[in-house]
Amino acid sequence: MILSGTSRLAGVLGWPVAHSRSPRLHGFWLERHRIDGAYLPLPVRPERFADAVRSLRDLGFRGANVTIPHKEAAFAVCDEVDATANRAGAVNTLVFRPDGTIAGSNTDGWGFLAGLRQAVPGVDLAATPATLLGAGGSARAIAAALLDGGCPRLVLVNRTRSRAEALCAALGGPVAAAGWDEAADLLPATRLLVNTTSLGMQGTPSPDLPLDRLPAEAIVADIVYVPRITGLLAAAAARGLRTLGGLPMLLHQARPGFRAWFGIDPEVDDELARFVAGDVPETAEAA
Ligand SMILES: NC(=O)c1ccc[n+]([C@@H]2O[C@H](COP(=O)([O-])OP(=O)(O)OC[C@H]3O[C@@H](n4cnc5c(N)ncnc54)[C@H](OP(=O)(O)O)[C@@H]3O)[C@@H](O)[C@H]2O)c1
Repeated sequence: MILSGTSRLAGVLGWPVAHSRSPRLHGFWLERHRIDGAYLPLPVRPERFADAVRSLRDLGFRGANVTIPHKEAAFAVCDEVDATANRAGAVNTLVFRPDGTIAGSNTDGWGFLAGLRQAVPGVDLAATPATLLGAGGSARAIAAALLDGGCPRLVLVNRTRSRAEALCAALGGPVAAAGWDEAADLLPATRLLVNTTSLGMQGTPSPDLPLDRLPAEAIVADIVYVPRITGLLAAAAARGLRTLGGLPMLLHQARPGFRAWFGIDPEVDDELARFVAGDVPETAEAA
């Protein structure tokens, strides 16, 4: 990579940020398209976040992705947010406009759906009642995307039930809250089960559910992507169910930002998936 005096710059703001695969992912696209630009990991403490964003803008960055724990603070720092970010109450993509204003969007839900549609071509959301485990930031974005996509019934299962109830009230539509003790009884009516909790991330046990109660045509998705095959996905595959890991969501959510900063709509293909997956252990044991 050789940079010029007019290189385009972007990056990912997080705390910590060392775990992020976004620099690897955007770096692949920059190389593929021979773009005069760079995408950097940007570790920023929560109390420094708003100042850091404005400094990046003043330094001429085109924008940035935002990851844990800054997505809500990113919402607050924007001059304008799009409808998806508004619905999610959180921003994962910042674009610094030429007039100095900061625009925010949330591409997590869109990325999840794009990954789902790629993995299960022709999936009909309007015929897919779903159960979502979790009620945190990513649950919010994915729940909004599922409801906007026509999901006829969505149940949010969360350890802290009041958080799921608050999210249901904020989302509106055919969505209900439940506690973990009710999760097993929800499975027979579920066509799409999505884990959006951090359970199953390396070193933590996956959600323990009787997956044999799911219908044979159900899809089991886990947005955790380290490891690539979580305990939940392995258990679902062992029962012959269709599965979707977290990497496709990561790859697709990155596209709108890359397009805005670097001017090219990049492709999510097998070569990219293999390249990013090459840096992620396949199973918890392989880590
Ligand atoms: N694939 C992707 O592109 C992508 C994108 C974003 C996030 N992620 C992954 O998604 C996961 C969640 O991220 P987030 O930003 O939504 O986090 P978050 O806002 O902190 O939410 C965490 C959720 O996990 C639940 N949880 C945590 N520990 C639990 C436990 N021991 N038992 C039961 N529930 C537990 C929390 O329940 P309570 O409300 O009860 O605390 C909450 O619902 C992370 O693993 C992250 O890496 C993946």
